[in-house]
Amino acid sequence: MHVDVLRAINTQINSEFTAWYQYLAMAAFCDREKFTGAAKWLRMQSVEEYQHGVKLFDFVLARNGAVELETIEQPTLEFDTFGDVFERALEQEERVTAQINDLYELAFRSKAFAEMTELQWFLTEQVEEEKTAREIVARFRLVGDDAGSLLDLDRELGQRALTPAAVR
Ligand SMILES: [Fe+2]
Ligand SMILES: [Fe+2]
Repeated sequence: MHVDVLRAINTQINSEFTAWYQYLAMAAFCDREKFTGAAKWLRMQSVEEYQHGVKLFDFVLARNGAVELETIEQPTLEFDTFGDVFERALEQEERVTAQINDLYELAFRSKAFAEMTELQWFLTEQVEEEKTAREIVARFRLVGDDAGSLLDLDRELGQRALTPAAVR
């Protein structure tokens, strides 16, 4: 495996686990504040991020590369509002998209064809993740601090079902 590409994929594994940890912290915050629907949504999202990390972990091993697990940064634990939680989630997704783009570019320049194919899945996944986060952020902005509407939104978020990716 191309050494720079391997290093960058290891960094991305850390990013996915950082996202896993951050969503978990967001779930804890919402759960503590009894915003339980959002807490459930965030917990499911954290599982997806964990699976993204493991997907790359398995890929590196399949390519006979060395997995290097690094320290996971402490996530943000406190938020101003429930809307703020999702604003930060969207920012996180946008950051990850930029990382995946850079990683894909590196694989492309390195003519790392198998890695490009693997990363295509992540490019597609980021389109979906950003779209979902952006829609939720839009709802929070619309609702503002109207308690009744926030409770409706919480109930709706709590209806998230396990996606096929999440049960894989
Ligand atoms: Fe991810
Ligand atoms: Fe994500």
